[in-house]
Amino acid sequence: MKVQVPNSGALRLILPGVVGLVTTHHRGKYDITTVSWMMPAGREPPLVAIAVHPSTMCYDLIKRSSEFVINIPTRDVINQVVTCGRISGNELDKFERTGLRMAEPHVVSTPYIEQCIGHLECAVVNVHSPGDHVIFIGQVAFAMAEQDAFDESWLLVENDLKPLHHLGGATFATLDAPIDATPPDIRAAMAAQPDEESPESER
Ligand SMILES: Cc1cc2nc3c(=O)[nH]c(=O)nc-3n(C[C@H](O)[C@H](O)[C@H](O)COP(=O)(O)O)c2cc1C
Repeated sequence: MKVQVPNSGALRLILPGVVGLVTTHHRGKYDITTVSWMMPAGREPPLVAIAVHPSTMCYDLIKRSSEFVINIPTRDVINQVVTCGRISGNELDKFERTGLRMAEPHVVSTPYIEQCIGHLECAVVNVHSPGDHVIFIGQVAFAMAEQDAFDESWLLVENDLKPLHHLGGATFATLDAPIDATPPDIRAAMAAQPDEESPESER
């Protein structure tokens, strides 16, 4: 079961440099594009940045609709991740080709992918063209994640519930396990004042 993640907490869905399957839609055209160049770009409001090549259908559809959805895949759909990164939606319908299923979005009109474990529905608020890729800045309008996989950050409990990280080409990795690196003196101070919020620098 997937539970809603507050928009303000949604950036942690992509914090450890995960690869995304970006869904796009405009006037009856639908596409899925593999995107690994993405990052959080603001906290309040929550913003994400994705770098998209202008030759792609993804670029075309985002330009027209001003929205996109970042879906977080796992190793269960790793072959589809490569397919969606090697073939253009201008050549074929990637939903049909990969068996990835559309699901109804909550706020935007672009569907998300049912078989993924996290989703960020984004509305484009800014566009930059610093080089050969165009950077779309999206404001998170709605986000949700598989509750066994994500609770304020990725839990990394089971391999099938871990996001993928792109190492290059068709090679990916998953993270091993979280490590709590809080120094003992800070841990003691936190235990003494349990209501203190984490410092801004801890993201
Ligand atoms: C693992 C992986 C990561 C990729 N990351 C990006 C990316 O960040 N930005 C981009 O423009 N293309 C990226 N690509 C390439 C696009 O996914 C590819 O050009 C795709 O065929 C475009 O499909 P479309 O025309 O249907 O949008 C990536 C490909 C792979 C396999």
